[in-house]
Amino acid sequence: MNKKERIGIYPGTFDPVTLGHLDIILRASEIFDKIIIAVSENPYKNPLFSLEERIDMLRKSVKHPRVTVESFSGLLVDYVANKNASVIIRGLRSATDFNYEFLMAQTNNKLSKNIETIFLISKTEYSFISSSLVREIASYGGNIAHFVPEIVGKMVKTKIYKKKT
Ligand code: COA
Repeated sequence: MNKKERIGIYPGTFDPVTLGHLDIILRASEIFDKIIIAVSENPYKNPLFSLEERIDMLRKSVKHPRVTVESFSGLLVDYVANKNASVIIRGLRSATDFNYEFLMAQTNNKLSKNIETIFLISKTEYSFISSSLVREIASYGGNIAHFVPEIVGKMVKTKIYKKKT
């Protein structure tokens, strides 16, 4: 009998993807047979990068045979069910994250009883990184090399330079 494939969905806005996100993806890939990084268009956040650009930077940053990158719109629980999956993966950096994540996990579980959220605790060295901080530091010309993969650093700089000219 074939064992059912364990699929984990890692959703987010990834504007841009950071080393903290990549650490979660790598660690989750040890637990699941397959990881789908689900990039939300998230117009409410008014992202700096377009959906296509965010997908592109993730694909360039994550080269793993069992990890794929896709976009999704609408409710996350519907997307998860469509993928024949039942587990959402999220990273927890701090107690502040916990409050937000707690509400989101409970809401998603209420919307769809079969869906569970599992949390991976961020490593200390990544626990303060956020996409908005990366954007802010870059907008002032600061060095973001410690926070994002090299390719993403280049894309952020190009984007911010274009915005300013
Ligand atoms: N390392 C570094 N940063 C991390 C991180 C980690 N491990 N985990 C989260 N973050 C940061 C992100 O950079 C981002 O920072 P920012 O807000 O300063 O830019 C922040 O934490 C949260 O971003 P992200 O993880 O991308 O999640 P999100 O809150 O933007 O997106 C969705 C959440 C997409 C999962 C949620 O909005 C969703 O499900 N949308 C679909 C509609 C839906 O179903 N809504 C009902 C939900 S209950």
